[in-house]
Amino acid sequence: MNKIQDSVSRRINEMKARTSSMKSENLYFYNQPVTEMLGGSKVRVDGRVMSMYASYSYLGLIGHPRINKAAQEAITRYGTGTHGVRTLAGTLPIHVELEETIAKFKHADEAITYSSGYVTNLSVISTLVGRGDHVFCDKLNHASIYDGCMMSHAKFERFNHNDLHNLEQQISEAPENSAKLVVVDAVFSMDGDLMNLPLLRAICDKYHCWLMVDEAHSVGVLGETGTGIEEHFNMADAIDIKMGTLSKTIPSIGGYVASNHDIINYLRHASRGYIFSAALPPAQAAASNEAFKVILDEQWRVNKLCDNAKLFINNLTNAGFDTLNSQTAIVPIYCGSDQAAYEMTREAQMHDIFVLPVVSPAVPEGQARLRATVTANHTAEDIIHTVEVLAESGRRLGLISKP
Ligand SMILES: Cc1ncc(COP(=O)(O)O)c(C=O)c1O
Repeated sequence: MNKIQDSVSRRINEMKARTSSMKSENLYFYNQPVTEMLGGSKVRVDGRVMSMYASYSYLGLIGHPRINKAAQEAITRYGTGTHGVRTLAGTLPIHVELEETIAKFKHADEAITYSSGYVTNLSVISTLVGRGDHVFCDKLNHASIYDGCMMSHAKFERFNHNDLHNLEQQISEAPENSAKLVVVDAVFSMDGDLMNLPLLRAICDKYHCWLMVDEAHSVGVLGETGTGIEEHFNMADAIDIKMGTLSKTIPSIGGYVASNHDIINYLRHASRGYIFSAALPPAQAAASNEAFKVILDEQWRVNKLCDNAKLFINNLTNAGFDTLNSQTAIVPIYCGSDQAAYEMTREAQMHDIFVLPVVSPAVPEGQARLRATVTANHTAEDIIHTVEVLAESGRRLGLISKP
């Protein structure tokens, strides 16, 4: 082990001090195993039955019998792995079928899949733009978008969150003849608010920019049938590069882009995350493929999620909490300091509500919060009870003052 205090050991030691101090104060709640799914929104953690308010499984599809069956049949048929990368021997019929299903679901010509949503953003952004090009990124975009922009070597410009005037100003100052890509989240992953697609599309048209939208938290959540932000705004074909993950509403792993034939053909032959990384395991591809079909077949889940999100946000704000501008299943419960967010988490978990804090660098310094999520699996009674418990804790900690 290197004994010299270089910058690497300094970083390691700082993290050790930070996590040790949290653990000694009983404020460390990350990396806890969820040992059992108990049906509905209940899970077992550390031997206790808790209400899950931190899940990305927005439509409650983890463990869905049709999806489990599809995964099991794929294992029986193909085993657990593939013969390598898609380009060489790794492609199975289930990969082709999954990409067709995604293309249909997203109303696009074609789709391409990658091994994770993170890899998708990294690989796709850095393959589309490069040195001499410009890439524009909302300041609250997901880390994988940031990393993709940095990896691309394009001129990386960040505009203020959801401030499309700021974006337009930045675009108008870029050289007219440079290629320009705008990348945004459809639903922002820490705030739960929406991107203004109609205005954004108009700006992209005016300045001839490509538009890429990350739909990690909008598929299954937005639009009457859950197909995402284009359906929500009733705007077909507004997005050039429709990116999404297979790890949230879709209970699997992987990421995708749906787009026109030429873009997908380019990515299939130029993006390094596709060419140099193994194909999705057959069970995960089959589970994803079935899940897109389940969303369309079980529309009640999308409606229920929408009702639950409204109820949760209304009750929290009535109790005096600040939920920022959330309009979706991601509901921030604003705390301010890291300490307040950790203490609220401890209170919630002591009362069997499984919710977690997010602090800097995931959100700006001083804007720590509980990042609660609601799903189609919650009952109205559970939501009402949870808000009552959170409100009591919030009052005890001085976060809210309402009686
Ligand atoms: C907006 C957004 N994009 C991309 C990702 C990465 O997706 P994955 O977890 O599938 O790698 C996430 C994950 O949380 C996300 O929230």
